[in-house]
Amino acid sequence: MSKSSGVFVTLEGGDGAGKSTLLNLITKEFNSRKIPHFCTREPGGTSVSEQIRALILNPDSHMESLTELFLYEASRHEHVVKVIKPKLNEGVHVLCDRFTTSSLAYQGYGRGLGAKLVGDLNNIATTGLNPNIIIWLKIEPSIAKKRAEQRGQKDRLEKEFDQFHENVYKGFQELSQIYKNNFIVLDATHSPDVIFKSLLEHPIWKRYFS
Ligand code: TYD
Repeated sequence: MSKSSGVFVTLEGGDGAGKSTLLNLITKEFNSRKIPHFCTREPGGTSVSEQIRALILNPDSHMESLTELFLYEASRHEHVVKVIKPKLNEGVHVLCDRFTTSSLAYQGYGRGLGAKLVGDLNNIATTGLNPNIIIWLKIEPSIAKKRAEQRGQKDRLEKEFDQFHENVYKGFQELSQIYKNNFIVLDATHSPDVIFKSLLEHPIWKRYFS
């Protein structure tokens, strides 16, 4: 990372972990400190990527696991090249709701496509761009499920069976060990204020935003 580049932060977690709430708190903090930043999400973030998002998340889209992975990666390539890299190059910090770690956890572990294949495709799609900080809002799938149910209508991935979400959770757990120098693991069962405070006090966060 050159001195003038923005910091690339991604937020990860099972469905119902509270990523949006944390993203809002980070945004408020950055706004009050006049820190230039940009919020985006995956799948999505460009016109083409949002169209791919609608296709992937539509409950009527029945597709092969590999097709699903290609769609996430296609959406990601557009997003990285057209939005994320240019912002980082301008010195703007980018906060992205989900990124490559989701593909590893959901497609690699959840769908069973494996970390090698997904890692290789992630690399191609991102042209080698990796997040500086990966925040994982850790929550047991059974608790996350209850929260998600309270939110109402489910998309195609939220309708998956419990075993799928268990495998995704195991995936995040393994990945948080493998990439521990970049991973901030936060207990998502705590209140938003407590979670936010633990983030601000985390050594990896302080490395970039002290
Ligand atoms: P979204 O409505 O954004 O869910 P959430 O609020 O939980 O982030 O839907 C995104 C879904 O796509 C979510 O279930 C996770 C899944 N996903 C993957 O399976 N692979 C990926 O690479 C990404 C980015 C998301």
